[in-house]
Amino acid sequence: KIYRPNDASLSPLSSKTILFAGYGNQSRSQALNLRDTFASNPDVSAPKILIANRTDSYHETAIADGFSVTSFAEGAKEADVVFLLVPDQVAPALYNSEIGPNLRTGALVVVASGFNVFYKRLEVEGVDVGMVAPRMIGAGVRSRFLEGGGFPCFVSVENNFSGRALEMILSLALGIGGLTAGAVECSARDETLMDLFAEQAVWPSIIVAFREAYSTLKKLGCSDEALVHELWLSKEPAEVFEKCAEDGFIAQLKYHSTVSQYGQLSTSLGMDATKLQEFFKNVAEKRILGGEFTKEFIDIDKEGGGNGMERKLGGLYAAASTSELAVGEKKVRERMGLDKV
Ligand code: NAI
Repeated sequence: KIYRPNDASLSPLSSKTILFAGYGNQSRSQALNLRDTFASNPDVSAPKILIANRTDSYHETAIADGFSVTSFAEGAKEADVVFLLVPDQVAPALYNSEIGPNLRTGALVVVASGFNVFYKRLEVEGVDVGMVAPRMIGAGVRSRFLEGGGFPCFVSVENNFSGRALEMILSLALGIGGLTAGAVECSARDETLMDLFAEQAVWPSIIVAFREAYSTLKKLGCSDEALVHELWLSKEPAEVFEKCAEDGFIAQLKYHSTVSQYGQLSTSLGMDATKLQEFFKNVAEKRILGGEFTKEFIDIDKEGGGNGMERKLGGLYAAASTSELAVGEKKVRERMGLDKV
């Protein structure tokens, strides 16, 4: 189902108190959009918007933007709605200790990512839970709203304690500009599965394809300069993906030469995908839905007094930088004066 602005009304938010927990990428844009929506609809009485943030630069930004900033606990006591918009790895401890215990029964908790809801990391007894998840970085949520164009968004109701959760979720989505381009109904489970699958199956397959393509062609005599330009520095792949969105995944092939069209279609249709299918099935069913990945991620994060992931990522970056592709690109970028790798 796709929800449009006509499916919702702002009036369920009148005289409510809406708390934005965190004031980062998503939260700032969503809070500003919501405030602007009510400013341009003066016939509907505006909700009270509060920001809760720890003392850091985001706290200062919220004040500079003219919002009242409070603590998570005090904000939660007043709130009818809480947008939980801090990093996903931070949200459970913060919600379970400071926000959840202070919320009134029947309040609505809104997430922008399904992860913590699907993996049941939030203690959400006696409250409504829903998702309004822009498929867009925070800066885009704001700039597209200002341009009037809207942005893609997923919405769902995950726990309908009050019986009015859908009406409220759609109202909030309308308020932040999430219905302008049509919001797709998508559960926290599906959003988590697709998001993690793209990160752990699709993009790794692309990284491996480029890495192995580089090594194969290097062994056949192609230079680093030529390979880097041919494979990505020209930005051709970025343009292809843009055309996929504009014209269609297959339809965009018509922009390529006949040699290219024939090569791409005949090879992809003839390729044995059995190994890839097995890998995809394992990632989706065991790693993601079976919870293996999340357990691994949380365990690593806890190591070394809480900076385990930082150290782990350092090791992974070091390992990735030894491939022929990475070594070759570094040389090319140094020679060309493009030092930002
Ligand atoms: P962010 O990284 O911009 O969050 C920064 C905010 O979190 C700041 O207000 C900071 O004070 C607060 N914060 C950070 N660590 C904290 C801690 N230990 N305790 C208390 N507060 C802390 O977050 P972002 O990227 O806006 O993500 C928020 C939610 O939106 C997440 O669920 C994310 O998955 C989702 N989302 C993010 C998108 C993006 O483009 N960044 C896109 C769509 C969804």
